[in-house]
Amino acid sequence: MSEILRFPEGFLWGTATASFQIEGGIEDRGWSIWDDFCRWPGKVFEGHTGDVADDHYNRYREDVSLMADLGMQAYRFSISWPRILKDGMGDVNESGVDFYDRLVDSLLEAGIIPYVTLYHWDLPWELHRMGSWAARDLAYRFADYTRVVADRLGDRVTNWITHNEPWVVSFLGYWMGVHAPGWQDLGLALQAAHNVLLSHGLAVPILRESNAASRVGITLNLSPAYPASDSDADQDAARRQDGFSNRWFLDPVYKGTYPEDMWTLFSSEVPRVSDGDMEIISAPLDFLGVNYYTRSMVQAGEQGPLRVSSIQPEGEYTQMGWEVYPQGLTDLLVRVEQDYAPGDIYITENGCAYEDELTSEGQVHDSDRTVYLYKHFIAAHRAIAEGVPLKGYFIWSLLDNFEWAFGYSRRFGIVYVDFETLERYPKDSARYCQAVAQANALTVE
Ligand code: FCB
Repeated sequence: MSEILRFPEGFLWGTATASFQIEGGIEDRGWSIWDDFCRWPGKVFEGHTGDVADDHYNRYREDVSLMADLGMQAYRFSISWPRILKDGMGDVNESGVDFYDRLVDSLLEAGIIPYVTLYHWDLPWELHRMGSWAARDLAYRFADYTRVVADRLGDRVTNWITHNEPWVVSFLGYWMGVHAPGWQDLGLALQAAHNVLLSHGLAVPILRESNAASRVGITLNLSPAYPASDSDADQDAARRQDGFSNRWFLDPVYKGTYPEDMWTLFSSEVPRVSDGDMEIISAPLDFLGVNYYTRSMVQAGEQGPLRVSSIQPEGEYTQMGWEVYPQGLTDLLVRVEQDYAPGDIYITENGCAYEDELTSEGQVHDSDRTVYLYKHFIAAHRAIAEGVPLKGYFIWSLLDNFEWAFGYSRRFGIVYVDFETLERYPKDSARYCQAVAQANALTVE
């Protein structure tokens, strides 16, 4: 017996990308921390760079047509700060602004709603030299950059996301050193996280004022943490993991405080917080963007300040080594709604990497990706049925692209990109998403 799951009327289906991962067009932008990081020996797979990427800078029209063909109603992309301001501040790079002008116009002509992220990790190099995100001043530079973008695009763009995944920015970039700028210092990472949140809060009113219709949100990567057993020790470990991955960002944004247990745990490493910061950071938002890929399962351990160790439960895994766990998406959304009631919620990223093969007929039979998406669509639908105000779903990603430290060795696209010819080939999963988007429903077998 099959059943049809309908999504609410007006539910938005879209895809997501990020500037550094797809644009290329390096000649028309300033140097960023990722340009530099790609050149550090051993940091990025085989020294891959974002110089050309998917050449979206030149091929954006084709990409917009692809989205329109696939029946996508919205598109989440990010703006490259060093394309707007080559040194992160000062003179505006007019040709860079033109690029986004043309992109936005093409989207609107195709009936696709732009969801614009202001920061998806390509920090201008000059700002890095000034102390990177560990420097408080960057929050104010970000506000200035936001003003420039809002002035130029705010007449047509009304859906804004200030930051993508501050957890990844700060902890992978400044503590674990696996993302740009490759620092390894917990105290600086916590300060970076605070400054990123401050910059978010400063940007909110600027975006609001740019257009009466503006809606502003932030995107967090959230991952529910499950204890490996019922023991008190493992349940405490899961609470610490949750504090680290989720509450450290959700609490400041929605409650205007850092979680007390984690503040105690980080002890001497906690960030410097100035008077008024928490009010700025907790400025009311119109929506929360949730990026969900997998869950975490932990048990009590001895290592590091968190004293947790990760468990890899039996199950299915993607090429990233991430467990396929759709129930985690339902659990997460229900919990976020219960604990924070953030208003509208969007899944701003969900997707998977698998080893795709392009056939001689130009097809990619990626049934593993289709099944992954199918299961997560069901999980999202279940959350809606439980009362979560989920308003849209952006699949990561439109195109295969530069997957950060993995370079071009991980394919997340629903459209295959031949990195030699830069030709695009919709995969079977793209056709599946098209059918779901057009019906605003899916059939469960
Ligand atoms: C997220 C990033 C996105 C992409 C996916 C796989 O953390 O926001 O750029 O790399 O993971």
